[in-house]
Amino acid sequence: MADIGTDHALLPVYLIREGIASRVIAGDLNEGPLEAACNNIREAGLADRIGVRRGDGLDITWPGEVDTAVIAGMGGGTIRDILKLAGETAARLKRIVLQPMGDSGDLREWLAANGWRIEDEDLVREDGHIYEIILAVPGRETETDRTLVSIGPRLFEKKHPLLAEMIKAKIRKNRKIIAAMQLSRSPETGIKQQRLMERTRKLERIADACQVPDDN
Ligand SMILES: C[S@@+](CC[C@H](N)C(=O)[O-])C[C@H]1O[C@@H](n2cnc3c(N)ncnc32)[C@H](O)[C@@H]1O
Repeated sequence: MADIGTDHALLPVYLIREGIASRVIAGDLNEGPLEAACNNIREAGLADRIGVRRGDGLDITWPGEVDTAVIAGMGGGTIRDILKLAGETAARLKRIVLQPMGDSGDLREWLAANGWRIEDEDLVREDGHIYEIILAVPGRETETDRTLVSIGPRLFEKKHPLLAEMIKAKIRKNRKIIAAMQLSRSPETGIKQQRLMERTRKLERIADACQVPDDN
């Protein structure tokens, strides 16, 4: 597998130690993180199992070299751009594990529109923040409702215990944006505001379906 944006190479070291992967390519765009990665890999005595490469996204691997790519800890837009630019390399991947730090809805919608099926999803809470993890495989996403795709179709199906909290946080954020938009007199902002209000109302209905009392 390849860990794209590996930083300190904590994931590659973990995967080898736990016997989850036999060989890992640890890639990063920047020198500082790669230095830290090399040190950690050396200290773990795993230099023969983890290859370190500097480069942009999946450019560091050739098509078919790895079957799994993890892209974690970056914005959803950056993750989408990495996949977009990866062309043949992305097309030959069997699965991708993504952990976007924002814009996860746009990322899911892009995946669904570009030949990726969301196979599984999870949410993890750490230090008051909820992290989203998406496992996608080549194929056709079966969920067609845009709002459900963006919220996390598998999270909704499995009624993930943290989903309600996550939706409520998104509703609160949207309401703040809608209130800020109220100050603008531009017709374009008015249209955007209408769209966001519609999406927020849909989120409220989904929250109701998850039996989340809307207490804000
Ligand atoms: C916040 S760290 C995430 C580290 C680790 N993946 C995690 O989830 O904890 C983001 C890392 O991605 C790297 N990065 C950002 N854009 C990248 C790109 N286009 N290709 C490769 N690495 C990138 C940064 O240099 C940084 O080390």
